[in-house]
Amino acid sequence: MQQKIIILDFGSQTTQLIGRRLRELDTFCEILPYNKFPHDDPSVIGVILSGSPYSVYDPEAFKVDLTNIRGKYPILGICYGAQYMAQTYGGKVESAGSREYGRANLEQFDHENPLFKGFDENSQVWMSHGDTITAIPENFHCIASTSKVKFAAYQADNEKLWGVQFHPEVFHSLQGTQLLKNFVVDICGSRQDWSPDSFVDTTVAELKAQLGNDRVILGLSGGVDSSVAAVLLNRAIGKNLTCIFVDHGMLRKNEFRDVMHDYECLGLNVIGVDASAKFFADLEGVTDPEQKRKIIGRDFVEVFNAEAKKFTDAKWLAQGTIYPDRIESLNITGKVIKSHHNVGGLPKEMNLQLCEPLKWLFKDEVRRVGRSMGMPEHLITRHPFPGPGLAVRILGDITPEKVRILQDADDIYIRGLRDYKVKLSGEEARRVLAAGVPADMKDGEIEVSLYDQIWQAGTVLLSTVRSVGVMGDERTYEHPVALRAVTSTDAMTADWAHLPYDFMAKVSNDIINHVKGVNRVCYDISSKPPSTIEWE
Ligand code: XMP
Repeated sequence: MQQKIIILDFGSQTTQLIGRRLRELDTFCEILPYNKFPHDDPSVIGVILSGSPYSVYDPEAFKVDLTNIRGKYPILGICYGAQYMAQTYGGKVESAGSREYGRANLEQFDHENPLFKGFDENSQVWMSHGDTITAIPENFHCIASTSKVKFAAYQADNEKLWGVQFHPEVFHSLQGTQLLKNFVVDICGSRQDWSPDSFVDTTVAELKAQLGNDRVILGLSGGVDSSVAAVLLNRAIGKNLTCIFVDHGMLRKNEFRDVMHDYECLGLNVIGVDASAKFFADLEGVTDPEQKRKIIGRDFVEVFNAEAKKFTDAKWLAQGTIYPDRIESLNITGKVIKSHHNVGGLPKEMNLQLCEPLKWLFKDEVRRVGRSMGMPEHLITRHPFPGPGLAVRILGDITPEKVRILQDADDIYIRGLRDYKVKLSGEEARRVLAAGVPADMKDGEIEVSLYDQIWQAGTVLLSTVRSVGVMGDERTYEHPVALRAVTSTDAMTADWAHLPYDFMAKVSNDIINHVKGVNRVCYDISSKPPSTIEWE
């Protein structure tokens, strides 16, 4: 049985990060709303209580009855989780006066405590709290202090119950991963057997058992999530998987052709549907961004359904939904606050059940799974691309000619990002390697392309704008393009990437010299928030 740690989510921004750290320790975990503990799940081996935006004294603070958890599983409370247990069991939590935010050092800690195994003297931790524990319950003892925080960590006497005021999951708690490892491996007994290979084996076996001889339909987008889902399903059920890839005419240059070729090489049973004429006709003259999105969404469902309906024996609809899609979709009271935007509204009479084989994975884990199944690197490292495609990167109305101009400019930009190599060291190199980018460390440095270093890049055609230029002896009056490149981990927030000037100079030249219809190149230096990644 797959062991798991349950992370009860009290709403902290860093809850997902706890999950990530545990997965990095090859330990499977589930993040659940604070009040949804799975009491009858025999695979649970330990529990972590997350931080929270609330103070334990707020009337609306989240409270959970730990009676059937305490004593049954090892528990680690982090920040609010630690304060909540301290207060619940008779200790005292008070306002710290001002928020304590930032670096601190464990000046004293119990070297014998299993939570601190392998810790250095004065280990740096990261604090972020407004309240502080001023008294711990009877039968609890303090196991660490900083210069400002007396009860930086505690343990219940002779019990596997700990609380830490700092955040071991954040990068700046330098031995935070060690602490989490001590908890999940030494204390909870994790076998650390969660790996992409084991995931593939277990999931293929489960899919075989779940799907039997049933037909499954899957919408492919060319992106990594749906492609990896398709390859997994193909391993499990082979030709009973039918994939549908709709070309709405607003994909990147040659993308439909190239991706179809990749899918065929992977042995997938794919139907490619060129519906671009319908999309262009329905979008004619439409300039409003929301209207464009609605038309594309509606047309997409129509085209996809018309194909899907041909498979009257289909019993399942498979999707490449990944874990962050679902975590974002739940607020901590369990209500759906955001729905998925890709394949929606299949006809009810088809009566399809949903199959989401990647629903427990983070994006970089999806990539690791894809690699473990031998998928080509360019499919795995492909940047996210919006469902409505280049339509949301052309301001104003959409015509095949504008799409052609944008495809050509974008192709130069993206190829340039792939060709330009940079050397990284230290934290930057660690971050890129942790994301699974294959690169060899040599003399403390790795070499990666700009493309692999950033989350997402694309080109926007400002077709509602014209400006004057001069080419040779001729005056031009054409459109600008804006280049966008962002760093991010989940697309919820993003920063503009600091691309090298020599790269920008070359791309700008290449685009203006080779793409007829463009005479100016700009670089978008807005972060999200307040801007978004896409322009429309
Ligand atoms: P924004 O523009 O909201 O984008 O910052 C966040 C991420 O979502 C992608 N995106 C979409 N993906 N269908 C999708 O599948 C859509 O309609 C859509 N709109 C935006 C965007 O490319 C970025 O990765």
